[in-house]
Amino acid sequence: MPSRTTVALKVSRKTAEAENIQSFELVDPAGKALLPFTAGSHIDIHVPGGKVRQYSLCNPPRERHRYLIAVMRAEPTRGGSRAMHEQVKEGDLIEVSAPKNLFPLVESAKHSLLIAGGIGITPILCMAEHLADIGADFKMHYFARSPARAAFVDRIKRSKFADRGFFHFTEDQKQQRLDLAALLDTHDVEAHLYVCGGEAFMNAVIDIALQKGWHKSRIHREYFSVERRESDSNVEFDVTIASTGKTICIPADRTVMAALADCGIHITTSCEQGVCGTCVTRVLEGEPQHRDVFLSDDERNRNDRFTPCCSRANSRRLVLDL
Ligand code: FES
Repeated sequence: MPSRTTVALKVSRKTAEAENIQSFELVDPAGKALLPFTAGSHIDIHVPGGKVRQYSLCNPPRERHRYLIAVMRAEPTRGGSRAMHEQVKEGDLIEVSAPKNLFPLVESAKHSLLIAGGIGITPILCMAEHLADIGADFKMHYFARSPARAAFVDRIKRSKFADRGFFHFTEDQKQQRLDLAALLDTHDVEAHLYVCGGEAFMNAVIDIALQKGWHKSRIHREYFSVERRESDSNVEFDVTIASTGKTICIPADRTVMAALADCGIHITTSCEQGVCGTCVTRVLEGEPQHRDVFLSDDERNRNDRFTPCCSRANSRRLVLDL
């Protein structure tokens, strides 16, 4: 259900950008200026069927007349990207949140190295546009399996940062690691690194960067989805609602969020994958099993908050501050 914090924007253009990638240009139906955003921002979109999905903005932040997103049809899909590809048409109205930024640029950086993998180009492109606008020193590297699977290639080639945009087209993982190792090898110690793409790609970039001596405070990443670890097997546990004393069993095949919703207890969510932090809930007793990527290591170790959209419990019971 759209909230009062969303606005209805019109899909003014839908464009096939690459194999399995469509872009959507969203504008105010009355032509008014949209809320401003900063490079690295995303918006929540209420896709047909009631799901909420997050998409990075990939137009230049100086623009106020439109938001541009690109959606890769995911396989397997949880339904959001399929609905965007198959059901959303030009002229449709779609509910959209205000822009939020979980992946901000450090604008004062002496040099920025932007690395995108696949659809991860969207926030990286927005960052490149902004850094070019403010005259900052940066390079952008875009990894994709082939030119046919890379979005916005012509836009990058025609951009004012075309001489700082480099393409790496390869399906070969070994070659990809060699390319990454080469470009992360020498760097200014004051440079900042930004990476966006699939989980495995980002992990590879960050591993190599750390091996090459990049300080982790200068490495920034965005998430599109969170891969389950092999070790993540689910067991049943109980959740007690502190305000009522009611105890609810969380079956192995249901998330806490879903099991509570079955009992009429609704927690506000957005990404439903442990990325955005919208659902963070206080834990009064018990030990959560954190499966999100939102909380910091320190926050996880305190065990006093968790993300019920994806996290579970190490203890037999959690008491939640609800
Ligand atoms: Fe995004 Fe739970 S809804 S972290």
